[in-house]
Formats: sequence, structure tokens, C-alpha cells
Amino acid sequence: MILILNGSPNKNGHTMKTVKKIIKGIDEEYIIINSYAENIKACMDCKYCDNLDGCSINDNMIQIYDLIGSADKIIIASPLYFASLSSSLLDIISRFQTYFTKKFIRKEEVKKLDKSLLVCTAGGDWPTMFNGPIETMKVVNMLFSIDDSMNLLIKSTDKINSQEIDVTKYSEFLK
Ligand SMILES: Cc1cc2nc3c(=O)[nH]c(=O)nc-3n(C[C@H](O)[C@H](O)[C@H](O)COP(=O)(O)O)c2cc1C
Repeated sequence: MILILNGSPNKNGHTMKTVKKIIKGIDEEYIIINSYAENIKACMDCKYCDNLDGCSINDNMIQIYDLIGSADKIIIASPLYFASLSSSLLDIISRFQTYFTKKFIRKEEVKKLDKSLLVCTAGGDWPTMFNGPIETMKVVNMLFSIDDSMNLLIKSTDKINSQEIDVTKYSEFLK
């Protein structure tokens, strides 16, 4: 199963149109979580997970933890907001802290995922603009022991038609 975490509020914007194009030809179940539709709080570093499995915050993140348990691939998709992933998506990703403590503090095994894909779209164009999301993705890959990952970074959506970009190699990658 492919777990898709979408950080765009525009379900039919540049980011999600691109993701839909990528997954169109893939014969595998996928589940999309729209971060703006969830009411998921950010990690507050309460240290609960330094000692215990799970999270002290009782919200919809439980559903995402369950989905991680049955996923083998993850797509993180977001517009670039102030050179980062969107804040509601980052709130969700911050709750992966429970996997960080599990792996590095409690030294227990964390679920392995096979593949990850970052899809990030941005209105502008400057050389280092995607550095934030790229580094965030490295942390996600490290947590879930993902060795096979790709980044699709689309710039200048203010000017270009992002749907003209060929996404075939990203579809093939996920198969
Ligand atoms: C709050 C906000 C912050 C943004 N920050 C950036 C930015 O730092 N760099 C950039 O190139 N574009 C920025 N943009 C433009 C979006 O990244 C761009 O329009 C994106 O393709 C929108 O994706 P969507 O249609 O999937 O929502 C920003 C847009 C918004 C609304």
C-alpha cells in the first residue's frame, strides 16, 4: 500500500495533480491523507515516547500510525511554503518523533518502508529553494530505513504548466 501524505490545501492544485498523474498507472492500493483536513497537532516534546510506544496526544495521528503499519511505500507531497513543507504537513511529520525515540532512544525496531517519493512544487525559482524539504525527507528515510527514494521537485509553477512535466520515471520507480 502506498501512503500519500498531502500537504497542499488545494486538492486539485499543482502538487496533487502531479501525484495523481504518477499513481494513475500503478496497480497498487493507495491512501491519501490531506493534512489540511486532519486536526493533527504538532509534537510538543513531552518525552512520553522516550519510554513508551505511541504518543500522548490523542488525535487522528493514530490513524496515520496504523497506516504506516500496513504501508510499504510513502509519498510526501507538498507545495513549498516559505522554503519548507507546508506547516500542517510538518505537524504530522513531527509526530514521527515517536519512531525516532523508538529507534534511537529505546533502541527498538521501527517498521521498514521500501520506497519514498518527495513531490514538492514551488511558484518561484532559486537554486537552494528545495533544501528544507529534501533534508526533511532524509530524516523520514532514516526513520523508516528507506534505501530507495526519489525527489520530484517542480519549480516555477507561477509561470509553467506543471502538468506538462513527464512523470513516467516516478511512476516506474513506485511499481
Ligand atoms: C503561504 C505560501 C508560501 C509560499 N512560499 C513559497 C516559497 O517559499 N517559495 C516558492 O517558490 N513558492 C512559494 N509559494 C508558492 C507555492 O509553493 C506554489 O504556488 C505551489 O506550486 C502551490 O502548490 P499547490 O497548487 O499544490 O497548492 C508559496 C505559496 C503560499 C500560499
